[in-house]
This record gives sequence, structure tokens and C-alpha cells, in this order.
Amino acid sequence: MPQHKVITVNLGDRSYPIVIGQGLLNGGFDLAAHLRGTDCLVVSNETVAPLYLEPLLANLAGCQATSITLQDGESFKTMPTMQTILDELVATGANRDTTVIALGGGVIGDIAGFAAACYMRGVAFIQVPTTLLAQVDSSVGGKTGVNHEKGKNLIGAFHQPRVVLIDTDTLATLPQRELQAGLAEVIKYGAICDPAFFAWLESNMGALLDKDPDTLADAIQRSCELKADVVAEDERESGRRAILNFGHTFGHAIEHNQGYGEWLHGEAVAAGMVMAAELSAIGEHDIDRLKRLIEAAGLPTKPPVIPADRWLNAMGMDKKIQKKQLRFVLLHSLGDAYLSADVEQTKLQAVIGADS
Ligand SMILES: NC(=O)c1ccc[n+]([C@@H]2O[C@H](COP(=O)([O-])OP(=O)(O)OC[C@H]3O[C@@H](n4cnc5c(N)ncnc54)[C@H](O)[C@@H]3O)[C@@H](O)[C@H]2O)c1
Ligand SMILES: [Zn+2]
Repeated sequence: MPQHKVITVNLGDRSYPIVIGQGLLNGGFDLAAHLRGTDCLVVSNETVAPLYLEPLLANLAGCQATSITLQDGESFKTMPTMQTILDELVATGANRDTTVIALGGGVIGDIAGFAAACYMRGVAFIQVPTTLLAQVDSSVGGKTGVNHEKGKNLIGAFHQPRVVLIDTDTLATLPQRELQAGLAEVIKYGAICDPAFFAWLESNMGALLDKDPDTLADAIQRSCELKADVVAEDERESGRRAILNFGHTFGHAIEHNQGYGEWLHGEAVAAGMVMAAELSAIGEHDIDRLKRLIEAAGLPTKPPVIPADRWLNAMGMDKKIQKKQLRFVLLHSLGDAYLSADVEQTKLQAVIGADS
């Protein structure tokens, strides 16, 4: 049996393992043993299903497994798509013991998890993430949901999975640009809470871009450990969990301004992290290290040109809503993030290019 690593997300009676390794979908893991009952619905999409649905279902021989294949893309992370999953659950006679399994990237994980959270007020849920971003970020922590036409992730629920199964072999088919976007979140973990991991990434970025399986598995493991720790400390984001949003206030503004899809989330977060570092009182040397690592990952270090008023508007800081307090995630130093409610306005203006 191939080697695999196990990390536990400690959440009392909702604790669960994250299993990381090669060959897990090809007989390396007894998935059937982790279902709540004997029946399950696998949710995937038209890109991922042809690649990995058959191997996944082979792991569920002896169970009553059905599947639903959704269209691919963020634009389908909506209530109407969610309704088709719920319809399928009803049509197949799913009950309180049914398990919903997400097979795909973050879009599939978010929508399948939300369906699992809602069906019969909550049924069991398993994540089988197949993008690097989903493996290091979205599959861990229990945030699920869909988009509303007025905003991303406006509708959702916290619903923890009972296991996260990460087969690193699935990354072999992932487009390089998607891999790089996932690396932005990996770099984020080093930047916010683990200076040694940041330094390790500086030495290993080449191997990660070459998809070296062992190096990828190590990076995924460390990222999941760091996220699991933060989530265990603050499951519902009343405080500390917000540090995971490092680079995201600027990143979301970039995504929002460019129209979702033109910049991948990870690309926007990469440029956003540099901006957040510039807003922080850290030395030029640390800012340079962050820029160089982001560049080495083939990711942008600069945002597109956006007028200052649009930056502020997208960040919820325009005049109309200035009363709303916006907390920035800033760095004391590389590997040490904190939340700050008051940023120097002149510095912020400089970072968004309002003074040029
Ligand atoms: N719940 C959370 O905590 C959380 C955290 C971060 C992001 N998210 C959400 O995650 C979503 C983004 O996730 P993503 O970056 O994985 O995007 P995605 O799910 O759209 O996947 C990216 C693309 O890769 C394809 N793909 C997936 N696995 C593949 C594989 N192994 N081989 C080939 N192609 C593959 C997908 O079909 C898609 O076209 C967003 O909706 C975001 O809001 C959620
Ligand atoms: Zn992110």
C-alpha cells in the first residue's frame, strides 16, 4: 500500500483526518469505510469526471453510489446548480445516512458541501479535492457556499467534511496556470505564519513547478497543517482565522475590477500579498523576498492599473460606506501576520497608486 500522511483537524466531535498521498484513488485508501451509511452521491464536473470518477467509484464497490456531473466553472457555483444536486438527492431517495462526496476543485467542493449542509439539515460530506488550491485551502475548514449575482460566496454555511482525501496524482492533469494559482495560497501560509516554510519554498519552488510528487506532497502537508491549526483555534472566523485572508482584500478588489475569471483568484492574491506587505511596516528586504518568491512561482507581483476610487469602492472603503471598519491583514515580519483595523491612509494611498 502506498505511503500516505495523515493530519487531524481538531474540532472536538467534528474532528476529521486529511489524508495525503499518491495512488489513494487507485486502491490506496478504503473510502467506503468512511461513508456514514452505505449510499453516497458523488458531485463532480464535466472536466474532472472523465479523469477521476471511474477510479473513485471503484473505491466504492459494494456501496450504492450515484453521481452527478455539473458544468465546469465559477459561473455555475449558483443556487440553480445547487438545486440540481438537491433534486438528485431527492430522486435517488437519499436519507440522513447518505454521504455527499465532492470530486473536483474548490467550486465543486463549495457547492457540494453546501448541498450536504442543507439536505435534511445536514448530511455527511467528504472532500476529494483535485486542484492544488482545493487541496491546500478550500477543502479544509468547512466553509461551503455559492455565489449570488451581487457577490461571491454570499450564501453558505459552515459544514465540516468527515474526511479530506488528497490524491496528489490528480495534479498530473492540472493545467500549469491552475497549479501556479494554488501556489499563491501555499506562499501565503509561509508569509503569515511559518518563516521556515517560507524559506523552504524559496529552495523548492522549481521542484514544485515541475510537479515533483514528493515536494508537492510536503508543501500540501505543511499548508494543511497550518490551515488546520488556524481553523482549530477559530473555526468561525471571529478573530485569528482572518489572517488566512492575507492579500485577499486587495486580491478580491482586483478580481472584482477585472471581472471574475480574467485573473485567477491565486494570481490576484499574489499581487494582493505584495500590496499588503508594502502596507505593512516590514523592511524592503522582506518585501523583496516575497516578490522574488511570487515571481519564481510565475505569479504577478503587481496589480493591473485600477483608478484609486475603484480600489476603495471594491474594498468597501468609498465615501458612502466609510463607517464600515475594514481590517487588513498585515505582517510584523515574514511569517508573522496580524489583523489591523487602522492603516495609515497615506500609506494605503501610495499602495493603490493614488499618489502617483
Ligand atoms: N471554502 C473555502 O474555504 C474556499 C477557500 C478558497 C477558495 N474557495 C473557492 O474555491 C473556488 C476556486 O477553486 P479552484 O481554484 O480549485 O477552481 P475550480 O474548482 O474552478 O478548478 C479550476 C479548474 O481546474 C479544473 N480541474 C480540477 N481538477 C483538475 C485536475 N485534477 N485536472 C485537470 N483539471 C482539473 C476544474 O474543472 C476547473 O476548470 C472558488 O469558488 C473559491 O471561492 C473556497
Ligand atoms: Zn484564497
